[in-house]
Amino acid sequence: MAASISFTRGVPSADLLPAEDIRASAAEALERDAAGALSYSPGGYLPLREWIGERHGVPASRVLMVNGSLQGLAFLADHFFHDRPGTIVLEDPTYDRTLTTFRHAGAEVRAVPLREDGVDAELFGAALAERPTVAYLIPTYQNPSGVCMSLETRRRVAALAREHGVLVIEDDPYGLLRFEGERLPTLHELDPENVIHSSSFTKTIAPGVRTGYLVLPEPLVAPFARISANTYIAPNSLAEATLAAYCWGGRFEPNVERATAELKRRRDAMERALVDHFPDGSTWTTPRGGYFFWVQLPEGMDAGAALADATEAGVPYVAGSDFTGSEYGRRCLRLAFSAVPAEQIGEGIERLGGVLAASHRTAAV
Ligand SMILES: Cc1ncc(COP(=O)(O)O)c(C=O)c1O
Repeated sequence: MAASISFTRGVPSADLLPAEDIRASAAEALERDAAGALSYSPGGYLPLREWIGERHGVPASRVLMVNGSLQGLAFLADHFFHDRPGTIVLEDPTYDRTLTTFRHAGAEVRAVPLREDGVDAELFGAALAERPTVAYLIPTYQNPSGVCMSLETRRRVAALAREHGVLVIEDDPYGLLRFEGERLPTLHELDPENVIHSSSFTKTIAPGVRTGYLVLPEPLVAPFARISANTYIAPNSLAEATLAAYCWGGRFEPNVERATAELKRRRDAMERALVDHFPDGSTWTTPRGGYFFWVQLPEGMDAGAALADATEAGVPYVAGSDFTGSEYGRRCLRLAFSAVPAEQIGEGIERLGGVLAASHRTAAV
């Protein structure tokens, strides 16, 4: 059987991980501040919080470090929904783990359709008018769709949230991985007091460092300090001290540049292959950054039904229904190009195109 070429995981491939620089940064961190790196650091290792605070224009006290941004999302779910019924407004489709995390916390989910320029602002406004607890958006190179919210929509969304008095959680792990187009302001930059910004070093350095962070509005600093202390006393100081040495040592920007250039090659290879090998009538929005293509297959095709055959053929993906409860999700699939070397993408997509066509023929019989 041909080797597996998996499009499932939104992770960087091994060749994108900066192992040598991490090794050097860990050694530096221990030489410079072994006591700090090996002690509890409530709220996170201060030099790293300072580096992040500077980039976001806030004092370090407003930066809460977490062990991966998903833990920050779990803290948010706990804060907003523990013992309190309420609704979260989010995009349709959206990141599947967020859906799970907030549903487990007891939140009612209200999904607003995503358009080519971001969440549908009109419907978003209507959803906010119904007094939800909080909103959750991934404005830049969204997971799963790859969509980047336009500047106009960002402004409208930020203004609507303020008008209705609803806090927005902005999940932004992909924003720095920009292939083309102008840099757009984050929602947090547009309204720092009404937006909670969540990000992590998973996509810009490595998932294994398990280091993410929340930039909090001032009133949330104390409650979140309590949640984090009650969960783990303090996050992983050694990883954060290593990243502090890495970032203050000038290694961050060059790594983002290197990763982005390689990801762009993979994006280009995937788009060429989709044009050549996917069923006629398939549609997608070309991602201008990030990790994903979100492909809608022609009417009558079923991405969920074809998944077992694709997995058998060594070219798995994630079925669209994981990211949306809407009917159209059956026709959609998420393809991550981040984990597959550009040279293998064409072969993988050609194989997958064949599987999808064959599965459709079988279903039609
Ligand atoms: C939109 C989004 N948020 C959060 C995460 C979680 O990242 P981590 O916990 O590794 O920081 C991911 C990971 O794929 C993601 O795509």
